[in-house]
Amino acid sequence: LQQILVTIIEAYILGSIPFGLVITYLFYRIDIRKVSSGNIGATNVLRTGKKGAAGLTLLLDAAKGALAVLSAGAIASHHILGGIAASSHVINHDSPDNAEAYAMALAAVFVVWGHCFPVWLKFKGGKGVATGLAVIAVLSPATGILSCLIWLVAALLSRMSSVGALAAFLGIPVLMHIIHKSAYSSPIFWATCLITLTIFLRHRQNIRRIIHGKEPLIHFSLH
Ligand code: G3P
Repeated sequence: LQQILVTIIEAYILGSIPFGLVITYLFYRIDIRKVSSGNIGATNVLRTGKKGAAGLTLLLDAAKGALAVLSAGAIASHHILGGIAASSHVINHDSPDNAEAYAMALAAVFVVWGHCFPVWLKFKGGKGVATGLAVIAVLSPATGILSCLIWLVAALLSRMSSVGALAAFLGIPVLMHIIHKSAYSSPIFWATCLITLTIFLRHRQNIRRIIHGKEPLIHFSLH
């Protein structure tokens, strides 16, 4: 139980580091929460016109997600969770008894929740897209790559970052089910479902704006 708590707390704290907020304030003294959508993610940082800061936010938000899941897997595979974890870091999606899979699934959900509901910001955090996609890429690289492609195509076609995110995360449980046999019995599958649900909840306002044609468009120009 102690190790489960450590996994959850570590993932939550990592996730709750608001890189977008820290970077824009540190370098430009901008409070990103007062810009456009008010979100602390890379899309909103890009709206300040600071492309480097947006790129760094994307990278670090993704890195914390990957780190949380990888470290949870590493701890579990060293039998600290007392399980029958495999010593390799390749997840066996067909073996729900695998302690490593449970630890990584838990970390995946809590790092996204940490990002979306950070205690330091009165639980008003980001929307979990960069962190969530990185988490998925670690849990299932094939799903991660395909969902990033879905994000790219949907965002390019709609010119809305939120449409890319909603399309990608809607596709994730479907892709997991297609790619990994007996996905339903794996904690990883249920973790991805919870993450998709969280991403949709965090995009409630975006969905309302999309319906009313008021969602801001992104500009892909490089200059
Ligand atoms: O990455 C978050 C994105 O899907 C929406 O962000 O700032 O347009 O609400 P934003």
